Amino acid sequence: KPSSRVTIVEMAPRDGLQNEKQPVDTARKIELVDLLSDCGFERIEVTSFVSPKWVPQLADAAAVMAGIKRRSGVRYTALAPNMQGFEAALAAGADEVAIFASASETFSMRNINCSIAESIERFRPVAAASRERGLPLRGYVSCVVECPYEGAVPPQNVVNVAWQLRALGCYEISLGDTIGRGSPEAVDRMLAAVLGELPATVLAGHFHDTSGRALENIAVALERGLRVFDAAAGGLGGCPFAPGAKGNVDTVSVHDYLSARGYDTGLDKDKLARAAAFARSLRSAP
Ligand code: HMG
Ligand code: MG
Repeated sequence: KPSSRVTIVEMAPRDGLQNEKQPVDTARKIELVDLLSDCGFERIEVTSFVSPKWVPQLADAAAVMAGIKRRSGVRYTALAPNMQGFEAALAAGADEVAIFASASETFSMRNINCSIAESIERFRPVAAASRERGLPLRGYVSCVVECPYEGAVPPQNVVNVAWQLRALGCYEISLGDTIGRGSPEAVDRMLAAVLGELPATVLAGHFHDTSGRALENIAVALERGLRVFDAAAGGLGGCPFAPGAKGNVDTVSVHDYLSARGYDTGLDKDKLARAAAFARSLRSAP
């Protein structure tokens, strides 16, 4: 019988706030993380140590990390695209770092200014340093079904990148439907291909909800054996380099969906609702 435990990795402070038009005060970001810390998450993605010229929304990454109340049992994670980001994340006390690659060449260029192959080379020292420091390393693959620039992405491209991230030492690879336009059929085909090379236990699903099909995509992934999903309180999210990318699937919806099907997320529904309301209050007016 498959495990009934499902882990939700909370994304609102990072994937959520990276895409907000109006700057959000550092103090309010800290308040959001602190509210999320009480909900029962094992992992909260707090911020990114990326170029402030590329993502000004997260330029206060170190200040946010310094200001949060750390709750024991919660891992506070951050994105790090290169060694400069890794060193900054380490200095700020990140418990885990994530490197992020793409299954689409054009998106790789637009997002991190290098080819897929160059990105893997750039991640190599980050992987070595995280291993040396004993920091868990997570990997993302973006555009696993569709690219905002190239359209449909062949599943084999996803397999190749996921495999390379795993070979670098990522304990988990999060598969991102970056623009949230994946159909359950396309997600299923992509997962079948990736599962030919990697076990479900090292995969996570990261669904944006542009087409409103994220829960269906989660259902497909559950059927395929995945038990870790990324979601953002309040449905915040999107990528500044992926035109049309809307919010991440809402953590509350994922929690409700999973609970109704007998899965245990370990989350406190009332506290989650409070954190989600606060997250929504940070959103810029459309
Ligand atoms: P670059 O311009 O090629 O970098 O950008 P560079 O190495 O040539 O450096 C240029 C300048 O950036 C230098 O500063 C560096 O110091 C600085 P200058 O001398 O001009 O003043 N720099 C940095 N500053 C702070 N922290 C750093 C850092 N690195 C260089 N780590 C780079 C390359 C990767 C840095 C840039 O493209 C970048 O920061 N990209 C970030 C993109 C990003 O954050 N995207 C959103 C996250 S991905 C996502 O949302 C998808 C996901 O959710 C999954 C899904 O949905 O699919 C994860
Ligand atoms: Mg994302």
